[in-house]
Amino acid sequence: MGGNSFGTLFTALTFGESHGPAVGCVVDGCPAGVPLDTETIRRDLARRRPGAGGPVSARREDDEPEILSGVFRGKTLGTPIAITVRNGGARSSDYDALKDVYRPGHADWTWEAKYGVRDYRGGGRSSGRETVGRVAAGAVARAFLSGFGIGIRAWTGEAAGFTAPGPEHESFNLDEAERNALRMPHRETAERALLEIENLRGAGDSAGGVVACRVSALPPGLGEPVFEKLDALIAHAMLSIGAAKGVEFGAGFSAASLKGSQMNDRPVPAPAETALPGGTLPPGVPAIGFAENRAGGVLGGLSTGMPLEFRVVFKPPPSIARAQETRDRAGGPRIIEIPGRHDICVCPRAVPVVEAMAALVLADLLLQSRVSR
Ligand SMILES: Cc1cc2nc3c(=O)[nH]c(=O)nc-3n(C[C@H](O)[C@H](O)[C@H](O)COP(=O)(O)O)c2cc1C
Repeated sequence: MGGNSFGTLFTALTFGESHGPAVGCVVDGCPAGVPLDTETIRRDLARRRPGAGGPVSARREDDEPEILSGVFRGKTLGTPIAITVRNGGARSSDYDALKDVYRPGHADWTWEAKYGVRDYRGGGRSSGRETVGRVAAGAVARAFLSGFGIGIRAWTGEAAGFTAPGPEHESFNLDEAERNALRMPHRETAERALLEIENLRGAGDSAGGVVACRVSALPPGLGEPVFEKLDALIAHAMLSIGAAKGVEFGAGFSAASLKGSQMNDRPVPAPAETALPGGTLPPGVPAIGFAENRAGGVLGGLSTGMPLEFRVVFKPPPSIARAQETRDRAGGPRIIEIPGRHDICVCPRAVPVVEAMAALVLADLLLQSRVSR
Protein backbone atom coordinates (compact mmCIF):
# COMPACT_ATOMS: atom_id res chain seq x y z
CA MET A 1 0.00 0.00 0.00
CA GLY A 2 1.42 3.40 -0.94
CA GLY A 3 0.54 6.83 0.31
CA ASN A 4 1.60 6.63 3.95
CA SER A 5 4.41 9.16 3.72
CA PHE A 6 4.62 12.77 2.58
CA GLY A 7 7.44 15.07 1.47
CA THR A 8 10.68 14.91 -0.54
CA LEU A 9 13.56 15.95 1.77
CA PHE A 10 11.69 16.61 5.01
CA THR A 11 9.41 13.56 5.09
CA ALA A 12 6.72 12.34 7.47
CA LEU A 13 5.25 8.85 7.61
CA THR A 14 2.23 8.24 9.84
CA PHE A 15 1.27 4.82 11.20
CA GLY A 16 -1.40 3.19 13.29
CA GLU A 17 -5.07 2.33 13.26
CA SER A 18 -7.63 4.13 15.40
CA HIS A 19 -8.21 1.23 17.81
CA GLY A 20 -4.81 -0.48 17.48
CA PRO A 21 -2.19 -0.20 20.26
CA ALA A 22 -0.73 3.12 19.09
CA VAL A 23 -0.55 5.77 16.38
CA GLY A 24 2.41 7.96 15.52
CA CYS A 25 4.90 9.17 12.96
CA VAL A 26 8.45 8.88 11.70
CA VAL A 27 9.96 12.16 10.53
CA ASP A 28 13.06 11.86 8.37
CA GLY A 29 15.22 14.66 7.00
CA CYS A 30 14.84 17.13 9.86
CA PRO A 31 18.21 18.89 10.18
CA ALA A 32 20.31 18.36 13.32
CA GLY A 33 20.31 20.89 16.14
CA VAL A 34 16.62 21.93 16.10
CA PRO A 35 15.35 22.48 19.67
CA LEU A 36 12.60 19.89 20.31
CA ASP A 37 11.09 18.29 23.40
CA THR A 38 8.07 16.18 24.33
CA GLU A 39 6.28 19.20 25.77
CA THR A 40 6.23 20.97 22.37
CA ILE A 41 4.60 17.94 20.77
CA ARG A 42 2.20 17.45 23.71
CA ARG A 43 1.04 21.07 23.40
CA ASP A 44 0.13 20.69 19.71
CA LEU A 45 -1.57 17.32 20.31
CA ALA A 46 -3.69 18.81 23.11
CA ARG A 47 -5.25 21.21 20.57
CA ARG A 48 -6.32 18.28 18.35
CA ARG A 49 -7.72 16.13 21.16
CA PRO A 50 -11.45 15.42 21.50
CA GLY A 51 -13.22 15.46 24.85
CA ALA A 52 -13.70 19.23 25.02
CA GLY A 53 -17.46 18.93 24.41
CA GLY A 54 -19.25 21.42 22.17
CA PRO A 55 -18.93 20.47 18.51
CA VAL A 56 -16.37 17.72 19.07
CA SER A 57 -16.54 14.14 20.27
CA ALA A 58 -16.76 13.41 24.00
CA ARG A 59 -14.19 10.59 23.64
CA ARG A 60 -11.33 10.87 26.14
CA GLU A 61 -7.93 10.56 24.51
CA ASP A 62 -4.92 11.43 26.65
CA ASP A 63 -2.49 11.67 23.72
CA GLU A 64 0.77 11.35 25.61
CA PRO A 65 3.62 11.45 23.05
CA GLU A 66 6.79 9.44 23.44
CA ILE A 67 9.87 10.34 21.38
CA LEU A 68 11.62 7.05 20.57
CA SER A 69 14.54 8.34 18.52
CA GLY A 70 16.22 11.27 16.82
CA VAL A 71 16.30 13.69 19.78
CA PHE A 72 19.08 14.00 22.36
CA ARG A 73 19.14 16.50 25.24
CA GLY A 74 16.44 18.68 23.72
CA LYS A 75 17.87 18.86 20.20
CA THR A 76 17.27 16.89 17.01
CA LEU A 77 20.14 14.62 15.94
CA GLY A 78 19.42 14.70 12.20
CA THR A 79 18.41 11.02 12.42
CA PRO A 80 14.83 9.72 11.96
CA ILE A 81 12.50 11.00 14.69
CA ALA A 82 9.95 8.38 15.74
CA ILE A 83 7.05 9.50 17.94
CA THR A 84 4.32 7.23 19.30
CA VAL A 85 1.07 7.97 21.09
CA ARG A 86 -0.67 5.01 22.76
CA ASN A 87 -4.37 4.63 22.02
CA GLY A 88 -6.48 4.84 25.16
CA GLY A 89 -10.19 5.54 25.54
CA ALA A 90 -11.15 3.41 22.52
CA ARG A 91 -14.55 1.70 22.77
CA SER A 92 -14.30 -0.83 19.96
CA SER A 93 -17.68 -2.28 20.97
CA ASP A 94 -19.26 0.91 19.53
CA TYR A 95 -18.25 -0.45 16.14
CA ASP A 96 -19.44 -4.10 16.44
CA ALA A 97 -22.76 -3.26 14.82
CA LEU A 98 -20.92 -1.59 11.91
CA LYS A 99 -18.61 -4.39 10.85
CA ASP A 100 -20.94 -5.78 8.21
CA VAL A 101 -22.48 -2.54 7.03
CA TYR A 102 -21.14 0.41 5.05
CA ARG A 103 -21.44 3.84 6.64
CA PRO A 104 -22.73 6.38 4.08
CA GLY A 105 -20.13 9.08 3.43
CA HIS A 106 -17.32 7.10 5.08
CA ALA A 107 -14.44 5.07 3.65
CA ASP A 108 -15.86 1.63 4.55
CA TRP A 109 -16.91 0.39 1.11
CA THR A 110 -14.05 1.98 -0.86
CA TRP A 111 -11.46 0.34 1.45
CA GLU A 112 -13.09 -3.04 1.05
CA ALA A 113 -13.46 -2.54 -2.70
CA LYS A 114 -9.70 -1.92 -2.97
CA TYR A 115 -8.09 -4.07 -0.26
CA GLY A 116 -10.77 -6.67 0.54
CA VAL A 117 -10.13 -6.12 4.24
CA ARG A 118 -10.52 -3.23 6.66
CA ASP A 119 -10.16 -2.50 10.36
CA TYR A 120 -13.74 -1.42 11.07
CA ARG A 121 -12.95 -0.46 14.70
CA GLY A 122 -12.98 3.31 14.82
CA GLY A 123 -12.50 3.52 11.05
CA GLY A 124 -8.91 2.19 11.10
CA ARG A 125 -6.66 4.56 9.14
CA SER A 126 -9.68 6.53 7.86
CA SER A 127 -10.29 7.84 11.35
CA GLY A 128 -9.76 11.35 12.63
CA ARG A 129 -7.29 9.65 15.00
CA GLU A 130 -4.82 9.20 12.14
CA THR A 131 -4.22 12.94 12.39
CA VAL A 132 -2.32 12.41 15.69
CA GLY A 133 0.71 11.34 13.62
CA ARG A 134 0.35 14.39 11.36
CA VAL A 135 0.19 16.80 14.29
CA ALA A 136 3.20 15.18 15.99
CA ALA A 137 5.20 15.36 12.73
CA GLY A 138 3.97 18.91 12.19
CA ALA A 139 5.29 19.88 15.64
CA VAL A 140 8.77 18.83 14.47
CA ALA A 141 8.39 20.85 11.25
CA ARG A 142 7.15 23.87 13.21
CA ALA A 143 10.15 23.68 15.51
CA PHE A 144 12.41 23.78 12.42
CA LEU A 145 10.43 26.66 10.84
CA SER A 146 10.37 28.74 13.99
CA GLY A 147 14.17 29.09 13.61
CA PHE A 148 13.36 31.15 10.49
CA GLY A 149 10.67 33.21 12.25
CA ILE A 150 7.92 31.60 10.13
CA GLY A 151 4.58 31.50 11.98
CA ILE A 152 1.52 29.41 11.04
CA ARG A 153 -1.94 30.12 12.49
CA ALA A 154 -5.25 28.52 11.51
CA TRP A 155 -8.77 29.11 12.78
CA THR A 156 -12.36 28.12 12.03
CA GLY A 157 -13.64 30.70 9.55
CA GLU A 158 -17.06 29.16 9.04
CA ALA A 159 -19.17 26.46 10.73
CA ALA A 160 -22.75 25.24 10.31
CA GLY A 161 -23.49 28.11 7.91
CA PHE A 162 -22.13 30.89 10.18
CA THR A 163 -19.14 32.90 8.87
CA ALA A 164 -16.79 34.72 11.23
CA PRO A 165 -15.27 38.07 10.14
CA GLY A 166 -11.91 37.54 8.40
CA PRO A 167 -8.53 39.14 9.19
CA GLU A 168 -9.51 42.26 7.22
CA HIS A 169 -12.17 43.10 9.87
CA GLU A 170 -11.48 44.98 13.10
CA SER A 171 -13.40 42.42 15.15
CA PHE A 172 -11.16 39.51 13.98
CA ASN A 173 -9.42 38.24 17.11
CA LEU A 174 -7.08 35.25 16.98
CA ASP A 175 -6.74 35.13 20.78
CA GLU A 176 -10.51 34.59 20.92
CA ALA A 177 -10.10 31.65 18.54
CA GLU A 178 -8.24 29.70 21.23
CA ARG A 179 -10.91 30.53 23.84
CA ASN A 180 -14.12 29.19 22.26
CA ALA A 181 -14.98 25.57 21.46
CA LEU A 182 -15.14 26.22 17.70
CA ARG A 183 -11.77 28.02 17.46
CA MET A 184 -13.51 30.94 15.76
CA PRO A 185 -11.86 34.38 15.90
CA HIS A 186 -15.19 36.05 16.78
CA ARG A 187 -17.11 35.16 19.95
CA GLU A 188 -20.64 36.14 18.87
CA THR A 189 -20.41 34.16 15.60
CA ALA A 190 -19.01 31.18 17.51
CA GLU A 191 -21.91 31.32 19.97
CA ARG A 192 -24.47 31.39 17.18
CA ALA A 193 -22.77 28.54 15.32
CA LEU A 194 -22.52 26.48 18.52
CA LEU A 195 -26.26 26.83 19.12
CA GLU A 196 -26.95 25.55 15.61
CA ILE A 197 -24.50 22.69 16.17
CA GLU A 198 -26.36 21.71 19.36
CA ASN A 199 -29.61 21.68 17.34
CA LEU A 200 -27.94 19.41 14.79
CA ARG A 201 -26.65 17.12 17.54
CA GLY A 202 -30.22 16.87 18.87
CA ALA A 203 -31.43 15.95 15.39
CA GLY A 204 -28.68 13.31 15.05
CA ASP A 205 -26.93 15.29 12.33
CA SER A 206 -23.59 17.02 11.71
CA ALA A 207 -22.16 20.25 10.24
CA GLY A 208 -19.51 21.34 7.74
CA GLY A 209 -17.24 24.37 7.85
CA VAL A 210 -14.08 26.09 6.71
CA VAL A 211 -10.64 26.27 8.34
CA ALA A 212 -8.63 29.31 7.28
CA CYS A 213 -4.85 29.50 7.60
CA ARG A 214 -2.28 32.28 7.40
CA VAL A 215 1.49 31.86 7.27
CA SER A 216 3.52 34.91 8.17
CA ALA A 217 7.18 35.85 7.56
CA LEU A 218 7.46 33.48 4.63
CA PRO A 219 10.36 34.52 2.41
CA PRO A 220 9.70 34.89 -1.33
CA GLY A 221 10.69 32.07 -3.65
CA LEU A 222 9.45 28.97 -1.81
CA GLY A 223 8.02 26.37 -4.19
CA GLU A 224 9.39 24.22 -7.01
CA PRO A 225 7.63 24.90 -10.32
CA VAL A 226 6.19 23.24 -12.19
CA PHE A 227 4.90 20.14 -10.40
CA GLU A 228 5.81 21.06 -6.84
CA LYS A 229 4.42 24.56 -6.77
CA LEU A 230 3.77 25.93 -3.30
CA ASP A 231 -0.01 26.09 -3.84
CA ALA A 232 -0.10 22.64 -5.45
CA LEU A 233 1.70 21.06 -2.49
CA ILE A 234 -0.44 22.89 0.07
CA ALA A 235 -3.58 21.70 -1.76
CA HIS A 236 -2.23 18.13 -1.80
CA ALA A 237 -1.42 18.30 1.91
CA MET A 238 -4.81 19.73 2.85
CA LEU A 239 -6.89 17.40 0.69
CA SER A 240 -5.12 14.43 2.30
CA ILE A 241 -6.88 15.30 5.59
CA GLY A 242 -10.07 13.29 6.18
CA ALA A 243 -13.29 15.18 5.32
CA ALA A 244 -11.42 17.99 3.45
CA LYS A 245 -13.26 18.73 0.21
CA GLY A 246 -11.66 21.86 -1.25
CA VAL A 247 -8.87 24.44 -0.94
CA GLU A 248 -8.70 28.04 -2.12
CA PHE A 249 -5.93 30.66 -2.00
CA GLY A 250 -6.44 34.39 -1.52
CA ALA A 251 -9.47 35.50 -3.56
CA GLY A 252 -9.95 31.81 -4.36
CA PHE A 253 -13.18 30.80 -6.07
CA SER A 254 -14.43 34.40 -6.04
CA ALA A 255 -11.75 35.05 -8.73
CA ALA A 256 -14.17 33.49 -11.21
CA SER A 257 -16.26 36.66 -11.21
CA LEU A 258 -13.44 39.24 -10.86
CA LYS A 259 -11.85 41.23 -13.68
CA GLY A 260 -8.07 41.14 -14.15
CA SER A 261 -7.91 44.72 -12.96
CA GLN A 262 -9.69 43.69 -9.74
CA MET A 263 -7.64 40.54 -9.18
CA ASN A 264 -4.06 41.72 -9.78
CA ASP A 265 -2.08 42.81 -6.72
CA ARG A 266 -0.05 46.01 -7.26
CA PRO A 267 3.72 45.52 -6.92
CA VAL A 268 5.19 48.20 -4.63
CA PRO A 269 8.65 48.62 -3.10
CA ALA A 270 9.13 46.08 -0.30
CA PRO A 271 9.01 47.65 3.17
CA ALA A 272 12.36 46.14 4.17
CA GLU A 273 15.01 44.21 2.31
CA THR A 274 13.52 40.92 1.18
CA ALA A 275 15.78 37.90 1.14
CA LEU A 276 15.27 34.53 -0.48
CA PRO A 277 15.48 31.57 1.90
CA GLY A 278 19.11 30.87 2.58
CA GLY A 279 20.38 33.75 0.47
CA THR A 280 19.77 37.15 -1.06
CA LEU A 281 17.83 38.27 -4.10
CA PRO A 282 19.73 37.66 -7.35
CA PRO A 283 21.75 40.67 -8.58
CA GLY A 284 19.58 43.30 -10.26
CA VAL A 285 16.28 42.07 -8.78
CA PRO A 286 14.56 44.74 -6.67
CA ALA A 287 12.85 43.96 -3.38
CA ILE A 288 9.11 44.04 -4.10
CA GLY A 289 6.03 43.85 -1.90
CA PHE A 290 2.35 43.91 -2.91
CA ALA A 291 -0.26 46.48 -2.02
CA GLU A 292 -2.98 43.80 -1.83
CA ASN A 293 -2.87 40.04 -1.37
CA ARG A 294 -5.62 38.61 -3.55
CA ALA A 295 -3.07 36.08 -4.81
CA GLY A 296 -2.95 34.66 -1.28
CA GLY A 297 0.85 34.93 -1.13
CA VAL A 298 1.70 32.77 -4.15
CA LEU A 299 2.40 33.61 -7.81
CA GLY A 300 3.61 31.06 -10.35
CA GLY A 301 3.80 28.48 -7.58
CA LEU A 302 6.35 30.58 -5.64
CA SER A 303 5.77 32.46 -2.41
CA THR A 304 5.60 36.24 -2.92
CA GLY A 305 6.77 37.27 0.55
CA MET A 306 3.22 38.28 1.45
CA PRO A 307 1.34 36.11 3.99
CA LEU A 308 0.32 32.76 2.53
CA GLU A 309 -3.47 32.66 2.96
CA PHE A 310 -5.69 29.71 2.19
CA ARG A 311 -8.98 28.14 3.25
CA VAL A 312 -9.93 24.48 3.51
CA VAL A 313 -13.54 23.28 3.27
CA PHE A 314 -14.51 20.37 5.55
CA LYS A 315 -17.65 18.35 4.95
CA PRO A 316 -20.00 17.39 7.81
CA PRO A 317 -18.60 14.24 9.49
CA PRO A 318 -20.38 11.24 7.98
CA SER A 319 -21.07 9.23 11.18
CA ILE A 320 -24.44 10.58 12.27
CA ALA A 321 -27.01 9.22 14.67
CA ARG A 322 -30.10 9.69 12.51
CA ALA A 323 -31.39 6.82 10.38
CA GLN A 324 -29.83 6.50 6.90
CA GLU A 325 -30.34 4.03 4.08
CA THR A 326 -27.30 1.94 3.15
CA ARG A 327 -26.14 -1.53 2.07
CA ASP A 328 -24.54 -4.38 4.01
CA ARG A 329 -21.68 -6.72 3.04
CA ALA A 330 -24.16 -9.07 1.40
CA GLY A 331 -25.37 -6.17 -0.75
CA GLY A 332 -28.74 -6.07 1.01
CA PRO A 333 -30.56 -2.89 2.07
CA ARG A 334 -30.09 -1.70 5.67
CA ILE A 335 -31.12 1.23 7.81
CA ILE A 336 -28.17 2.43 9.83
CA GLU A 337 -28.09 4.63 12.96
CA ILE A 338 -24.49 5.19 13.98
CA PRO A 339 -23.81 5.03 17.71
CA GLY A 340 -20.63 6.30 19.33
CA ARG A 341 -19.02 9.58 20.22
CA HIS A 342 -18.51 11.41 16.95
CA ASP A 343 -17.53 14.97 16.13
CA ILE A 344 -20.51 17.08 15.05
CA CYS A 345 -18.17 19.50 13.22
CA VAL A 346 -14.51 18.61 12.60
CA CYS A 347 -13.27 22.19 12.14
CA PRO A 348 -11.96 22.99 15.65
CA ARG A 349 -10.00 19.72 15.69
CA ALA A 350 -8.85 20.18 12.09
CA VAL A 351 -7.27 23.57 12.93
CA PRO A 352 -4.02 22.07 14.36
CA VAL A 353 -4.01 19.45 11.58
CA VAL A 354 -4.12 22.17 8.90
CA GLU A 355 -1.27 23.98 10.68
CA ALA A 356 0.73 20.74 10.90
CA MET A 357 0.30 19.89 7.21
CA ALA A 358 1.25 23.44 6.20
CA ALA A 359 4.37 23.17 8.39
CA LEU A 360 5.37 19.90 6.72
CA VAL A 361 5.05 21.41 3.22
CA LEU A 362 7.00 24.54 4.16
CA ALA A 363 9.79 22.69 5.99
CA ASP A 364 10.23 20.48 2.94
CA LEU A 365 10.26 23.42 0.51
CA LEU A 366 12.66 25.35 2.72
CA LEU A 367 15.11 22.44 2.57
CA GLN A 368 14.58 22.07 -1.18
CA SER A 369 15.24 25.77 -1.73
CA ARG A 370 18.77 25.27 -0.39
CA VAL A 371 19.65 23.21 -3.44
CA SER A 372 17.27 24.41 -6.14
CA ARG A 373 18.81 27.73 -7.19
C1 LIG B 1 -9.85 15.77 13.10
C2 LIG B 1 -10.89 14.93 12.41
C3 LIG B 1 -11.91 14.34 13.14
C4 LIG B 1 -12.88 13.56 12.51
N1 LIG B 1 -13.87 13.01 13.28
C5 LIG B 1 -14.83 12.25 12.68
C6 LIG B 1 -15.87 11.64 13.45
O1 LIG B 1 -15.95 11.81 14.67
N2 LIG B 1 -16.79 10.89 12.79
C7 LIG B 1 -16.74 10.69 11.43
O2 LIG B 1 -17.58 10.02 10.87
N3 LIG B 1 -15.77 11.26 10.67
C8 LIG B 1 -14.82 12.02 11.26
N4 LIG B 1 -13.84 12.60 10.49
C9 LIG B 1 -13.94 12.48 9.03
C10 LIG B 1 -13.53 11.13 8.46
O3 LIG B 1 -12.20 10.82 8.87
C11 LIG B 1 -13.64 11.15 6.94
O4 LIG B 1 -14.85 11.70 6.54
C12 LIG B 1 -13.51 9.74 6.37
O5 LIG B 1 -12.19 9.29 6.52
C13 LIG B 1 -13.87 9.66 4.88
O6 LIG B 1 -12.95 10.39 4.10
P1 LIG B 1 -13.40 11.64 3.21
O7 LIG B 1 -14.48 12.34 3.95
O8 LIG B 1 -12.14 12.49 3.11
O9 LIG B 1 -13.85 11.11 1.89
C14 LIG B 1 -12.84 13.37 11.10
C15 LIG B 1 -11.81 13.96 10.37
C16 LIG B 1 -10.84 14.74 11.00
C17 LIG B 1 -9.75 15.37 10.18
